[in-house]
Amino acid sequence: MTAALEIRGITKRFGALTAVNDVSFGVERGQILGFIGPNGAGKTTTMRICATLEYPDHGDVFVDGHSVLTYPREVRARLGFMPDSYGAYANTTIWEYLDFFARAYGLKGDARRKRVGEVMDFTQLGDLQEKEIATLSKGMKQRLCLAKTLLHDPSVMILDEPAAGLDPRARVELRELVRALAGMGKAILVSSHILTELAEMCDGVAVIERGELKATGLVGDITRGLRSHAQVYVRVLEPIEVLERALAEQPLVQKARRDGAGVVFDHAGAPAELAKLLAALVAQGLQPVEFAPREANLEEVFLTLTEGKLQ
Ligand SMILES: Nc1ncnc2c1ncn2[C@@H]1O[C@H](COP(=O)(O)OP(=O)(O)OP(=O)(O)O)[C@@H](O)[C@H]1O
Ligand SMILES: [Mg+2]
Repeated sequence: MTAALEIRGITKRFGALTAVNDVSFGVERGQILGFIGPNGAGKTTTMRICATLEYPDHGDVFVDGHSVLTYPREVRARLGFMPDSYGAYANTTIWEYLDFFARAYGLKGDARRKRVGEVMDFTQLGDLQEKEIATLSKGMKQRLCLAKTLLHDPSVMILDEPAAGLDPRARVELRELVRALAGMGKAILVSSHILTELAEMCDGVAVIERGELKATGLVGDITRGLRSHAQVYVRVLEPIEVLERALAEQPLVQKARRDGAGVVFDHAGAPAELAKLLAALVAQGLQPVEFAPREANLEEVFLTLTEGKLQ
């Protein structure tokens, strides 16, 4: 067993509804895996099973080799779960909150003070430690929740929609924190609906819909698997109609369509054919200023693999 988090064939039913159906994938040490899927796809249910908060009907999850079914205590000691929402704590400051949970994790005396200080430093909450939780902004609360998740220095982290409701700057900061944690060798599973953010942060993705895993792997590999043709974007100095006419005469160019000031088309040929196409455009007197393969993005993966049906 190599992956730090290993999900093996888990199925979870709620009455007649199969929320998670025979899902398997793994997250390696130092890897950030994005978990994407539409509302109700089964992301939170999968994560809660990993965090020992829910039993699967079938299958098992291993955290650093420990089964959630037979060794839940060992799993809890090694796993940090940041839920998508958490309770309100009246009349409690940041420091009191973290100190309380550090006690719950069994940290004592100087070790506890040191650890609380470390997680506050890491999440940049030190200056706010006397602030009451009820008065924190959404971004501060998310950082506090992350700080709490880090108290016992877990090797596997499960973050359920950590970026929901954050402004762009707070999202960038969160992304940097998550990257730093991966840099420390932690395995991180993070769910999000913000696909651009996942694409920037994650090494790979797992796509789930209606409880079924649709794909796992690197974003680039998945998109290449989805597309039979390369997509190319071209923009020339001449009017766009001239370019469209020139492309229409090229046998390997398919589905040319306007995109901003240029044209995107599918190209079925080898790179050498693409080079010839560019030369042909230039030979016709066109002046290309952009000519580049276009990478499929996560949004395309999401929309192609999922059907948008709710259950
Ligand atoms: N405790 C429960 N009892 C009954 N049904 C549940 C329960 N928890 C989840 N479900 C159902 O299981 C399915 C999966 O829910 P889940 O919360 O895992 O989805 P999700 O992918 O996290 O969605 P979202 O993006 O909206 O957070 C949904 O149809 C949901 O209604
Ligand atoms: Mg959810």
